[in-house]
Amino acid sequence: MTDYTLLNAQLESLLEDEPDRTANLANAAALLKAELPQVNWAGFYFVGPSRSPTGREELILGPFQGLPACIRLPFGQGVCGTAWARNETLVVPDVHTFPGHIACDSASQSEIVVPLRGEGNLVVGVLDLDSPVKGRFTDDDRRGLEAFCQFLETRLRP
Ligand code: SME
Repeated sequence: MTDYTLLNAQLESLLEDEPDRTANLANAAALLKAELPQVNWAGFYFVGPSRSPTGREELILGPFQGLPACIRLPFGQGVCGTAWARNETLVVPDVHTFPGHIACDSASQSEIVVPLRGEGNLVVGVLDLDSPVKGRFTDDDRRGLEAFCQFLETRLRP
């Protein structure tokens, strides 16, 4: 079982005194990938403009660790887009049973997506973790990763 108190203390110490957003998110992804067992992908997507001027906003790939991944994810689709639309954490024990799951790494069997919130509680991005093991993410992981994201949110605000 992961010691999230320790992990979150490691995150705070990694980010101490460093204002650069990309550097901090890259280190946060690396910390998660290094410390969480049975995780094959750990990273961030952030809400950004569509490539089409008339299109809606979508999730755009940010700093991550793992295999190259899908760059753009639509609102309300896949696990990430659904967590964004619902503004809530999604724990998916078996990605093959999630309608519309977007497979970036065929090894992924289970997934957790935690929204990152900015001003007015609006979703500004998501943390996404994939595992090659079914049922990898427990309620304990959900609570620990939500605390991880709450701390990150305080460091993403201008
Ligand atoms: N599986 C995600 C897509 C992102 S990758 O897992 C990195 C989804 O269904 O939204």
